[in-house]
Amino acid sequence: MKFKILNSSLIELNTDSICIPYYKNNNKNTDLNSVNNLIDNLIDELDAKKQISSDLGAITNIYTMNKLKSKQLILIGMGEEKELNYEKIRKASGSLGRFLNNMKNDSASIIISGDGNNILEFNKTVNAISQGLILGTYKYDKFKTNKKPNTLERIDLINTQDDTSYGTSYNFEEIINESDSINLVRNLINEPPNYMNPSGLENVAKDIVENSELELTVLNVKEMKDLGMEVILGVGQGSKNDPKMIIINYNGDKENKANNIAIIGKGITFDSGGLNLKPGMSMRTMKQDMSGSAIVLGVMKAIAHQKPKKNVMGILAIAENMPGGNAQRPGDVVRAMNGKTVEIGNTDAEGRLVLSDALSYAVDKGINNIIDIATLTGAISIALGNEYTGLFGNDQEFIDKFLISSKSTGEKFWQLPVDKNYSKLYKNSIADIENIGGREAGSITGAMIIGEFAGNASWIHLDIASTITSPKDVGYNPKGPTGVSVRTILNLIKN
Ligand code: BES
Ligand code: MG
Ligand code: ZN
Repeated sequence: MKFKILNSSLIELNTDSICIPYYKNNNKNTDLNSVNNLIDNLIDELDAKKQISSDLGAITNIYTMNKLKSKQLILIGMGEEKELNYEKIRKASGSLGRFLNNMKNDSASIIISGDGNNILEFNKTVNAISQGLILGTYKYDKFKTNKKPNTLERIDLINTQDDTSYGTSYNFEEIINESDSINLVRNLINEPPNYMNPSGLENVAKDIVENSELELTVLNVKEMKDLGMEVILGVGQGSKNDPKMIIINYNGDKENKANNIAIIGKGITFDSGGLNLKPGMSMRTMKQDMSGSAIVLGVMKAIAHQKPKKNVMGILAIAENMPGGNAQRPGDVVRAMNGKTVEIGNTDAEGRLVLSDALSYAVDKGINNIIDIATLTGAISIALGNEYTGLFGNDQEFIDKFLISSKSTGEKFWQLPVDKNYSKLYKNSIADIENIGGREAGSITGAMIIGEFAGNASWIHLDIASTITSPKDVGYNPKGPTGVSVRTILNLIKN
């Protein structure tokens, strides 16, 4: 998609369609009035019959019958104008993008100036529209023989106001790169597990690092053994595809080494459950269990482009969790890089295991702030459904910073408790801890077991198990992987 900003009057526009925001209880804005006149007051007529919806993302498609150069006039519902925000613009733009492709449009003009009744900034509005369009029209058709590629190529963003302070140009490069990074995350999650295995993830990491300032370190089985990472090795030992730890470093503040953060992703390229084998229906979607690692790769790709003044260490904790003659057993005891011992109560609670060595590594390297991202527990969907991502942590100041960052991205996180009274649930008679805490508070004990390896660092854990996929097309998330948390993590790192 190519974006452009134009100052133009509506009658001149010659794209396949003209798209105009339609607010609740306000069909009297200047742009709407002038098109209404051009099409013989058809908008008034439809409005009188309540045939136009102002619900967010709702679309009313009107054929212009040669009254305008554009064949279609599209009214896009935006809700109450006073309540408009960038997240709503992003969502509506996502729905609009899919509609335009379904209509086989190659080009569209989107009107961005209303009556100025809202206080939104031009640049951020343009950002939200373009990002919503790129994210909302995402498709994964790599393995389809008959591909139906998107038609939409050209987007003209129209500023109908003469007021030049409202903006006439915009550099789209950064928002395109960020949106492409999120679509990369979605691609990696969609990739079949026979392609996106541990080596598959390693190849993507190499691609991202190439021709950038990023530095790559790959720890294979031997290096991990030497570092004492028995826990991740235990998870991977049942698979023919060896586990790996991949570290990607970006040194954006070389003078100030302590200005650092580690972003650590669970990278289980397939979670069969191991010897505690999952039933078929639960196993069906487990190629997605590397989503945390995919997010880390997306964040690092965007960081290489945005170059924030911060030292960022991305870590992918990668293994394939398989049953087999050499698989880990319930009852096995393994020792993490930081010295703590873990008895395996259930081989299906493997995410916290691979992450334990990754957090130990980050702490050992002097990292002060850690965010881990994991499709950790089925229980999080019982707690929060697929609206909010579960958030846990050990430092309220760090958590508050993260939550503030999420306010401007529109991604939703909900903090759940980390309280040492829960730790009795995973105490163990043989080793320091066990890797499961029983049925109660499953997402909390899962999080707290990871937290056991955070040392003195400020730590946040994101349980994305139920928000990483969208069950249907909603706003800028087409059905399938969402890439949730990339934008908030980037925003936190930048500010
Ligand atoms: N990868 C799963 C969690 C998961 C479940 C992600 C559903 C996405 C959708 C994780 O490794 C797992 O199996 N967790 C167990 C933990 C239990 C054994 C303590 C679970 O949630 O059942
Ligand atoms: Mg599991
Ligand atoms: Zn898992």
